[in-house]
Amino acid sequence: MMSRKNLVFIAQSLDGYIADRNGGLEWLSAVPNPDQQDLGYETFYQGIDALVMGRNTFETVCGFEMEWPYDKPVYVLSSTLDSVPEPFLEKAKVVRGPLSGVLDRIHRAGYSRIYVDGGVTVQQFLKEDLIDELTVTTIPVLLGGGTPLFGELPEKMEFELVESRVLLNAMVQTRYRRKR
Ligand SMILES: NC(=O)c1ccc[n+]([C@@H]2O[C@H](COP(=O)([O-])OP(=O)(O)OC[C@H]3O[C@@H](n4cnc5c(N)ncnc54)[C@H](OP(=O)(O)O)[C@@H]3O)[C@@H](O)[C@H]2O)c1
Repeated sequence: MMSRKNLVFIAQSLDGYIADRNGGLEWLSAVPNPDQQDLGYETFYQGIDALVMGRNTFETVCGFEMEWPYDKPVYVLSSTLDSVPEPFLEKAKVVRGPLSGVLDRIHRAGYSRIYVDGGVTVQQFLKEDLIDELTVTTIPVLLGGGTPLFGELPEKMEFELVESRVLLNAMVQTRYRRKR
C-alpha cells in the first residue's frame, strides 16, 4: 500500500494570507507569467489521489469561470451543506465530523495521498498534526488582511526544509516536511 500522506500546496502573500479581505485571488496573478510556465502545480497534482477542501474553497472553485479543474475525487468539508449543488454531484461529495473519521473513509475508498486545501481546513489538520508536507509559494505582496493560512496551534510544530526555489524571478516556493 502506498504510504498515506496529507499534503498542502498553497500560495500565500508575504504577510501570510491566502485570499484578500474580499476573498479575492487577483494578487495571485500579479507576477507576469507570459509563457504560462508551470509553477510546480502539475507535478504536485500528479502525485495526489484525492482532495479534501473546506466549503469556502469549494465555493471559490465553483465560481471560477472555467471547467471543473479536478479529475480526482474531491471531498468537501462542511457542516452546513448536505450535499454539493446539483452541477457538482459527480465531482465532489460532502463530508463532516472528526478528521480521523473523514480520513478513514477516504483511505477505505483507496486514496492515500491527500491534497488538503483551504485556510481553516489546513489549520484544522495542523491542529491534529495531520499534515506531512507543506509546499508554500510566497508572492511578494502585503495584503494587509484577509484569510490567513496559519492560525493558533496547541503547541510548536517543527518542519524540515526539503526544497526551495525561485519562480519567475519573483516568488519563492518552499517545500517543508513535518519533522516527527
Ligand atoms: N492562495 C491559495 O492558494 C488558496 C488556496 C485555497 C483557498 N484559497 C482561498 O481561501 C479562502 C478559503 O479559505 P477559508 O479559510 O475561508 O476556508 P476553507 O478551509 O476553504 O473552508 C472553511 C469551511 O470548511 C468547513 N469545514 C472545515 N473543517 C471542517 C470540519 N472538520 N467539519 C465540517 N466542516 C468543516 C466549514 O464549512 P461550513 O461553514 O459549511 O461548516 C468551514 O466554514 C477562499 O477565499 C479561497 O479562495 C486560496
